[in-house]
Formats: sequence, structure tokens, C-alpha cells
Amino acid sequence: MLVRSLLAGIILLGGALGCGPGRGGGRRRSPRKLTPLVFKQHIPNLPEFTMSAAGSPEGPLSRNDPKFKQLVPNYNADIIFRDEEGSGSDRLMTKRCLEKLNMLSISVMNQWPGLRLRVTESYDEEFHHSTTSLHYEGRAVDITTSDRDRSKYGLLARLAIEAGFDYVSYASRSHIHASVKSESAYASRSGGCFSADSIVQTPQGSRNMSELSIGDEVLVVNGDIVQFSPIIMFLDRDPSEIRLYVKIKTQSSEITMTPSHLLFIANDSRGNAPAGSKFQQGFHHVIFAEEVQPGDFVYVSLNSSKELVLEQVLEVTKTIEQGVYAPLTHVGNLLVNNVVASCYAILKQQSLAHLGFVPYRVMHNFYNAATHLLQKIDVAPLRAPKSSYRTRQQSIGIHWYADLLYKMFSSLLPEELLYPIAFD
Ligand SMILES: *[C@@H]1O[C@H](CO)[C@@H](O)[C@H](O)[C@H]1NC(C)=O
Ligand SMILES: *[C@@H]1O[C@H](CO)[C@@H](O)[C@H](O)[C@H]1NC(C)=O
Repeated sequence: MLVRSLLAGIILLGGALGCGPGRGGGRRRSPRKLTPLVFKQHIPNLPEFTMSAAGSPEGPLSRNDPKFKQLVPNYNADIIFRDEEGSGSDRLMTKRCLEKLNMLSISVMNQWPGLRLRVTESYDEEFHHSTTSLHYEGRAVDITTSDRDRSKYGLLARLAIEAGFDYVSYASRSHIHASVKSESAYASRSGGCFSADSIVQTPQGSRNMSELSIGDEVLVVNGDIVQFSPIIMFLDRDPSEIRLYVKIKTQSSEITMTPSHLLFIANDSRGNAPAGSKFQQGFHHVIFAEEVQPGDFVYVSLNSSKELVLEQVLEVTKTIEQGVYAPLTHVGNLLVNNVVASCYAILKQQSLAHLGFVPYRVMHNFYNAATHLLQKIDVAPLRAPKSSYRTRQQSIGIHWYADLLYKMFSSLLPEELLYPIAFD
């Protein structure tokens, strides 16, 4: 978790330097006019406990609960803690909450020189809040500015959004309420990846995930044809992150993916695809890696052959590995360790997930066409940087587009299509 907060710092810096925003609010840091929230307004405009706001409560934490150890005390000297209980409990919060609060304290000092951020409530062990409050889990804070000037609270709420709180509400005139997702929800939401040692086929031979860059061509299935297609982005890419993986073993192969990642499974439980039918003809569907069971049939290309065959899953195990990689190709699938896998996760519907990236693909095609054209006409002042396509490497973390898509649409999608947050 320390690594995670350090990374968050680095990513933020990356975002500010313009190599593209990363996880946890980098996107929001472009300079622009800040609109104060109005009284009674909350952002997002959804109930606090919905998945794309702060998410569901996971139950109050008492001091002897094992999960209580996950709370950390915030000793940031730039923040004033009211601590009316005198127990120090107002300093206790989840790491995600602490991270956001510390970020907010900096923007408060920048916004109002001489003033500081003040916390009136955070972890509550005395049940002063409503029955399901996130204060009981250290996931919520009530905040004001140190001068307690109520005219500043609307803007304070906006700064809290900018700092990356998942839900901010101006429900009371006396303070701003801000809350975050649970640590487990956040980890599984950022979900679908392959391990660093997963192998893909490129025209130059085998490569592992950690060696891949945007623009590299990898084997995919397009219709019924196994062919090369370039990687257009990484939905997530983080060499240092440690994650739980599912290892799925077949007779000739083994594929390692996070539990929420999608894998293609043959519809027919006996692996008898109707004669002549191939991949395209819809005799398959996607399921979460976590749902795969021995006996399921997956599509495999033996020795990089153009023919896909069905192989039965022999064993499914769990493992912890370092490094997360989620390359996205134009067709939305790719062969990993010779097994046909989806590029997507979390949303259990390949076509819908693929549709979500249409705007990005269009943008990407346009950008590449423009780059090629500029290179061709070679007008010096317009010349695109040579490295712009081939060797572009994405900054660490979840791609801003994937993050945006998730934030915009997850609340609109039927729950049964979404990876359940409390799975792990
Ligand atoms: C990926 O391949 C490179 C070069 O072959 C190798 O040095 C590296 O250890 C591999 N990484 C993993 C995680 O397998
Ligand atoms: C392909 O792999 C199989 C075993 O999986 C092997 O028996 C066969 O010889 C290989 N074919 C080629 C052309 O390498």
C-alpha cells in the first residue's frame, strides 16, 4: 500500500507533466475554472453507495476487528483534526482516504494562503452517524476550512472532487462530507490484466507482456482469421503492482489473468462445435476468469497455427504475481499463451465492452492517419515526432479513457453484467 501511494504520487506528477493522466485524479488536474458546489449538491449525481460513487458500505469496524488494522492514522501537520472524542479516532482512515485528504490539504493551502484543511469527523466508533455510514469504516471525512467560513464550503467541496474523493456532498451547511471506495473495491475495479510473464506472438517472435509497447503487433482473432493487429493502448499497465491472479491450465497451455478478466468459452459443454463452425460464428461466450471451471472449453492456437482448436480446462488455481498488463487491440481480443482471451474485464459482455471503445478507436485511427500524412508531406513545422506511433509507451496505471468509461457507464449497466465488487 505504501508502494501504491508512492506510485500515486509519481503518476500524478506524470499527469501534471503531460504524458497523460493516470490513476486517481491525474485527469482532473488541468488548470481550469473551479465551480463551487451549491448547497445540497453532491458529485457524482448519484447516491453515495452506488458503485461509481463511493460504493457499498462493508460494515462497521470495531477496534478488535481484523480489518481495523487497515486503518492508518493521519499525522499530516497541515491538517487540523478536531478530535472532540479525544481518542484520536478522527485521525484514523483508510489509506485511500488518507491519500485524498493529504492531496486536498495542499489544494486548500494553495487556494487560501494562510488557511488549512480542518477535519471534524472521520472514523467513528461511537455510532454517531446513520446506520450505514462510511464513517464507521474510515472511508468518510467531514471537513471545513480552518476559518470555518461557510462561504468557502462550496469551493472546498469542488477541491475535494479534484483531489480524487469518490463522492463529495454539500448536504449540511456546517461541513462538506467526502468519502472513498473501499480498498478491496478499488483493487478489484482496477481489475482486468495479464501477468508480466504472459506470452504473445509478434511478427518478430514471442514476447512477454512487460516487453510490449503501444503499436506492437500481436496475434489476434479477427472473425475466423488468426492475424497480427497492433496494440492501440494499455487499459492498465503497472510493472510494480501486485495482484491476485487466476491460472487456467489446459492440455497444451496455461493462461494467467486477474479474476475479473474475460475469457472466451465454447458454448457447447462437450466442446462439440457444430461441423465447420469456427470462432466467429458465435459458438462461444465470455465469462470472468474467476468463473472458469475444469471441463470448460477454451480456444487455443497450437504452435501459432492459424487454426483454432478447442481445449478443455484441466485445472484452475490462484496465484499472486507482480505486474499488471492489459493491452487493447483493435479487435478487442488477443492470443495470450496461445489461448484466445478478451482484452476486456469487469463488464461481462464482449460486444458491449468493445462498443465502449469505438470513440477511442476512431480517435486513434484519425491520429495515426494524420501522423502518417504529416510524415509523408514532410512539412517541417507540422512534422509529427518520429516516435509518435511505434515506440509510444503509456504512463503507469489505468488508462484515462478506460477510467472515464467506467465512471460514466457502470451505474447504467445491469448489475449481473458487472464483476461483483466483493468477490475477493
Ligand atoms: C520478459 O522477457 C525479458 C526478455 O526476454 C526478460 O528479461 C524478462 O525477465 C521477462 N519478464 C518476465 C516477467 O517474464
Ligand atoms: C505442434 O505442437 C504439437 C504438440 O502440441 C506437436 O506434436 C507438433 O509437432 C507441432 N507441430 C509443428 C508444426 O511444430
